[in-house]
Amino acid sequence: MGSFTGFLYRQFTFKPKPLPTTVNLKGKTALVTGASGGLGLEACLELAAHGVSRIILGVRDPSKSDAAKPIQAKNPNVDVQVWQIEQESFASIKEFADRAAGLDRLDIVILNAGVKNVEYVKSSKGGHELNVQVNHLGTALLSLLLLGPLRRTGDATGTPARLTIVSSENHFWVKLKVIKGPDTLARMDDKETFGKDMDRYNLTKLLNVLWMRELSTRASRNVVINAVNPGFCRSGLHRSHSSGASFANMVGWTATQGGHALTDAATQHPQDHGAYISEQTLFSPSSFVLSKEGHSAQVKIWNETIELLTQEAPSSDLLSNL
Ligand SMILES: NC(=O)c1ccc[n+]([C@@H]2O[C@H](COP(=O)([O-])OP(=O)(O)OC[C@H]3O[C@@H](n4cnc5c(N)ncnc54)[C@H](OP(=O)(O)O)[C@@H]3O)[C@@H](O)[C@H]2O)c1
Repeated sequence: MGSFTGFLYRQFTFKPKPLPTTVNLKGKTALVTGASGGLGLEACLELAAHGVSRIILGVRDPSKSDAAKPIQAKNPNVDVQVWQIEQESFASIKEFADRAAGLDRLDIVILNAGVKNVEYVKSSKGGHELNVQVNHLGTALLSLLLLGPLRRTGDATGTPARLTIVSSENHFWVKLKVIKGPDTLARMDDKETFGKDMDRYNLTKLLNVLWMRELSTRASRNVVINAVNPGFCRSGLHRSHSSGASFANMVGWTATQGGHALTDAATQHPQDHGAYISEQTLFSPSSFVLSKEGHSAQVKIWNETIELLTQEAPSSDLLSNL
């Protein structure tokens, strides 16, 4: 895994499969971010088809979203709730997590919201480079805040709850200069470090893997945590990247197939805490992730992220479930 020819070979020879018909999610509550469309919505549709009792769709603008309709059409018995979340804003993430803390149960979380921005832009709401703000900082904060309701559900039901972070095979293709130096997060706000084309997006997908691995060592009770590579799919992700969109039209899987990868990671593989799942199976992440240097980077990113969130998104719940 990691070579371009290997990537192409898999795109042509493998297609993600739907969940086995025996999977029954009756009684469970699932929450999926980035559920307005693309892979997130497809994952919600599949969870609904397997009888999930309640599904929460995290979307930026509920008034514009009609994502609930196809889910209700798939299964009218599902309680579909559309909640607002803007991952550029720590305040919005905290509000969203507070709502989730009030649920009587939360069994499955798929942190899927993400952007691929190939031009350097700082988030007007969060102040950090946009890919980092949404893909890493927003996802990291939400993962910490949702651990409480997930763990309570795992404890109450006796079945570990599930937390899946959506990463990418692109984490193999990272230029490591930025991540190896000191003050990585602060330097990523500097335009000079942005690189070109997909460099920064790829880096944030590596941050997703490093974060998931460190989180899984610190939060190991009654929540199974993993990261998933959904594969290269046709979706809105490539909207600001014309070469990516054209390439996706040629070799991309459908968003439905990408959704299968998400539901597989979030409902199967119960023993694989801390795992990287690709092609619906346990895979090794990049050799950098597995190296001693990669482990140092993992701990450094964890420490820097906690420090940043403690300052910019203070909450008594931030570290209370580790
Ligand atoms: N498609 C691929 O080839 C591919 C490959 C590997 C990994 N992935 C990963 O898969 C995940 C889903 O991507 P996709 O392909 O389904 O793309 P997509 O169709 O663009 O979906 C991305 C979702 O994230 C939401 N989002 C973006 N910025 C947000 C923000 N600031 N706050 C809250 N939500 C935000 C979007 O909401 P709006 O509708 O409001 O924009 C949308 O619902 C991403 O994490 C992506 O990195 C995709």
